[in-house]
Amino acid sequence: MALLWALAVLSLLPLLDAQSPECANLMTAAPISNATMDWLSGKWFYIGSAFRNAEYNESARAIQAAFFYFEPRHAEDKCMAREYQTIADKCVYNCSYINVYRQNGTLSKFETDREHFADLLLSNHFRTFMLAASWNGTKNVGLSFSADKPEVTQEQKKEFLDVIKCIGIQESEIIYTDEKKDACGPLQKQHEEERKKETEGS
Ligand SMILES: *[C@@H]1O[C@H](CO)[C@@H](O)[C@H](O)[C@H]1NC(C)=O
Ligand SMILES: *[C@@H]1O[C@H](CO)[C@@H](O)[C@H](O)[C@H]1NC(C)=O
Ligand SMILES: *[C@@H]1O[C@H](CO)[C@@H](O)[C@H](O)[C@H]1NC(C)=O
Ligand SMILES: *[C@@H]1O[C@H](CO)[C@@H](O)[C@H](O)[C@H]1NC(C)=O
Ligand SMILES: *[C@@H]1O[C@H](CO)[C@@H](O)[C@H](O)[C@H]1NC(C)=O
Repeated sequence: MALLWALAVLSLLPLLDAQSPECANLMTAAPISNATMDWLSGKWFYIGSAFRNAEYNESARAIQAAFFYFEPRHAEDKCMAREYQTIADKCVYNCSYINVYRQNGTLSKFETDREHFADLLLSNHFRTFMLAASWNGTKNVGLSFSADKPEVTQEQKKEFLDVIKCIGIQESEIIYTDEKKDACGPLQKQHEEERKKETEGS
């Protein structure tokens, strides 16, 4: 009996709501240190996202697949991002600087003539991270999910789904990418070759 009761209580736990301490815990961005920036360094795959903000929502729906490289610039509080996005079956390559606001755990990027902010939420268990947008109030909440591999495990995905619930978005509203649609492989290989030649030549 006691065990059954315990199970019943446990099965209630996943019902998170935005006001719960669990949610506050999951959604608090930690300050960004040099170690955090080192942790972020390398190749990442964009797995999926959900955004209430119409502009972000639209661009999320346009991205079929994406991967990117982060290169930290500790001294400048910046991170260089080289992004390979597949949009309408074509590869779109962009290189840009991400600003790092260390104190409040926020990253930002200038795009379409304004600064876009997102809170960085690192996984404690996996090489995955989330970026939480909350620009101009709750009607603009949103969350993206990235991992060091193009496919994630159920445990990794659960961390994302928990925060999705916290911000009041339905699972059915999440837009996932599909690595099979990636059209950037050849360009990325070409860039790699060029880099190799540069380092050999210098
Ligand atoms: C994104 O836009 C689509 C189409 O307008 C809408 O159905 C969906 O609910 C939006 N997603 C979120 C998270 O608001
Ligand atoms: C972070 O790294 C930069 C550049 O290497 C260095 O100047 C700075 O002192 C470091 N900050 C801390 C807190 O270690
Ligand atoms: C890529 O960069 C160009 C030029 O800065 C910009 O116009 C375009 O919107 C960017 N595309 C994406 C997908 O970020
Ligand atoms: C984070 O900190 C920077 C500088 O300290 C500030 O300009 C920015 O508005 C802050 N962002 C948020 C989301 O609090
Ligand atoms: C923020 O939201 C309010 C209403 O909720 C709107 O009036 C205002 O234009 C928005 N700000 C921006 C910069 O879009």
